[in-house]
Order: sequence, then C-alpha cells, then structure tokens
Amino acid sequence: MDTAEISKAKLVSLTQDAEKSWDDELQQLVETLPKEQGWSVSNLYLYQGFWCTALTLRPLISFQTHFQEFDSDVITATFPKCGTTWLKALTFSTLYRDRFANPLLTSTPHQLVRFLEQDVYVNNPCPDLDNICVYNKPRLFSTHVPYASLPTSIEDSRCKIVYLCRNPMDMFVSLWHFAEMLRDENKVLPTPSLDEAFDKSCRGIHAFGPFFDHVLGYWKATQENPDKILFLKYEDLKEDISSQLKQLAMFLGVPFTEDEEEGGVVEEIAKVCSFENLKELEVNKKGVDVIGIPHKDFFRKGKVGDWNNYLTPSMVERLEKLIQQKLENSDVEISWDDELLQLLQTLPEEAWTSAPGSSLYLYQGFWCSAVGPKPVISFQTHFQAFDSNVFVTIFPKCGTTWLKALTLSTLVSDFGSAIHPLVLM
Ligand code: A3P
Repeated sequence: MDTAEISKAKLVSLTQDAEKSWDDELQQLVETLPKEQGWSVSNLYLYQGFWCTALTLRPLISFQTHFQEFDSDVITATFPKCGTTWLKALTFSTLYRDRFANPLLTSTPHQLVRFLEQDVYVNNPCPDLDNICVYNKPRLFSTHVPYASLPTSIEDSRCKIVYLCRNPMDMFVSLWHFAEMLRDENKVLPTPSLDEAFDKSCRGIHAFGPFFDHVLGYWKATQENPDKILFLKYEDLKEDISSQLKQLAMFLGVPFTEDEEEGGVVEEIAKVCSFENLKELEVNKKGVDVIGIPHKDFFRKGKVGDWNNYLTPSMVERLEKLIQQKLENSDVEISWDDELLQLLQTLPEEAWTSAPGSSLYLYQGFWCSAVGPKPVISFQTHFQAFDSNVFVTIFPKCGTTWLKALTLSTLVSDFGSAIHPLVLM
C-alpha cells in the first residue's frame, strides 16, 4: 500500500472511530444537530452555527472547554484552503527568527504550528500545551474555528490572532481539489460533482463554513480590536510579501530592525516560506499528518486566479452576487481578477470537452481557455518585436515540438563541437 492509501485508510478509520467514541452526552447533542453529507470522508454537523466534521466535533469541545491561554500566545486563524500552511510558515519564521537554524527544512509548517481542534485535542481532552509547542514564550497555535466559537477566554485575554483570508473562488477550487485527493477510494461518501460541490459551498456547507460568516466574524473582531487581531489577505501576500511581513512582525511585537532589513532578513523569510521552496522540500513531499492527510496535499498550485480554469461564468455570477449580498454592510474587500471576470462575461462560452467542467471562450474570433485572454492581451499589448525575430506559429497538435526543434537547429547551426542545445535543455 502506498502512503496515500495508508493515509486515506487512517483518515477514514479515525473518522469512524470518532463517531463510535462519542459518549452519551455528545451522542445526544449530535442527534439534535442538523447533518449534511460532507465532501470527503466525513459528514458535517451544524454546531454553534458552523459546519463541523465528525472528527473535529469532540476535540473542538475539549478545546473550547479546557484551553488555558496565556496573554503572550499567538494563534493563526484561517478558513481551510485560504493559505493556512503559508501563514504558519511565515508566522513561525517571523516570531522565532532569532532562535533557530531553519526548522522548516526538517518539519512541516503543520508540525511546527499545530491545529488546536484537529490535532492537539484529537487524542487528549487536556493535553500539556507547553510540550506541544516548539517554543513556549510565546506559544504559537493554529485554528480554523470561527471567531465566535473560540474559547471565550481567548477573547478576554491579550493573546494575538493573525487571520488570513482568501478570495472564495480560489478557496473553493482549492478545497475541491483537496477533497478529491482525500476522498476515500472505497467511497465512504458519494463523490459530489463540481456543480454539486459548488452549490453546497454557496450554501455555506463545508467544514467550518459558511465561509462568509467566518471572514466577517474575524473582520468585525479586528475592527473592534486591531491590536489583538491582524487581518491579512492571501492576494496581498502574493502581491507584496515584504511589506506584509513587516506588518506581521510589527503586529507580533517583533518589528524588523534596520540591520535586519538591510541584511535581507525579510526577503530570506519570504523565500524560505515561498510555495516554490516549501513544495520542493523532502519533508513536505513525504509522510502524513496526525489525522492521515499526506503532507504533499497542502501544496498544489499556490496561485491567485486558478478559479479561472474551473468556474463557469454562471458560477462566478452566483458567487459574485453572494459576495455582494454577504459583504454589503462591511468594508471587507475580496481581491480577485475583476478585469478578466468582466471580459469573460462578455464572451460566448462553450463547454471544453477535453477538460470537463471547464469552458472555452470566443475571444477575437478564436476559442481560448479562461486563462487564455489575459496573457494574449498582455502579449498583444506589450510585446516588442525586433526585425530579426523568428516566430514558430502553429495550430495545437500539428507538430509544434518538431517544428521548434527543426527551426532551432537550423537557426543555431554553428554550435560546432559544443553539445547541441536540444541535448542540454
Ligand atoms: P491551491 O490549492 O490553490 O494551490 P491551506 O494551507 O489553508 O490548506 O491552503 C492550501 C492552499 O495554499 C493551496 O492552494 C496551496 O497550494 C497553497 N499554499 C500552500 N503553501 C503555500 C505557500 N507557501 N505560498 C502560497 N500558497 C501556498
């Protein structure tokens, strides 16, 4: 059995054991809760206004009941698939930057900053929290629990929370792929189609959902108490990681010194925590986490705008309306590629048969994928041709690779005794 199969089996059995291990009190509570079919291996239960997996319910209650915070604690909070892994790596690296060589080379971000409700409290209702953290002052934890359902002592204390939000379209696409990866081959739950999953997601039915309630809960809390809760966005981190890291360090009370800034410490942290770096580390490629999720499943594309490849304009329209409706009384700004969205809505659309669930758009008289128009427009607008340029122009699948090789070899024929570039690259 490979690692992925073992992990799926572990996740399924943990979920089933979780349900079996519910005592009478919890069983009675669960019977009163609305239940929905989840996306991967677990049913969802509507607990305190949000959807909770069978696996998380008991540890969540232990977390709510027994967590003893310190004023110095730092908690990273996210909705699943909004960049938790990245936020953990960034916060750990910033907070403890003077203390370590680089533990991210040997431990995953999830091992360094552990989830409270779906790790720390899974096997023990009263864990020794000091032994769970890599460092004790300050302690650093992570959670997906909505703000309103955090232990009340957290709200009353001076501990700090860093929240990371992501646009709901990319969150959904990321979650969809993640659920696909986790879904048990024995199909513990039937596989929903992309349309069904999207519909559930719009109705808020996904673990820790509804998404908008989650975002708004933390947004309102940060408005009321900006020294306690920092609200970051995945898209902003992508756009300008250095200034976001400086903001994070300032918020955590460990601002970068001039010497550190001049010495490139900010850039070094950004580089170590980058998607490209973390994804390629052996520690993130192998093995599974405490509940059986393969470490590699936390790294997929790490891009803004991948929703373009999966969501149809009608899905986008539905989500846009939802965003307007849910966020109209708040000033939360969701970042996505509005320009492209507006363009796509004006173009004729057809189902793309070779990529089920995706569409093709008729742009300037030819069909291209949802991501197509943007680079085409950039190319049309910004490309500076030289008289000496040669273009290989060909319809897909008509011998592009061959023509490129032939043209290159003919043009660059004076490589003499050196190795042919086609052998090198
Ligand atoms: P995609 O599926 O869009 O690629 P989470 O960590 O909350 O589970 O979120 C996972 C998403 O964050 C995935 O998005 C994953 O690829 C992306 N991700 C993981 N590490 C990242 C990093 N260091 N930088 C940017 N994105 C990252």
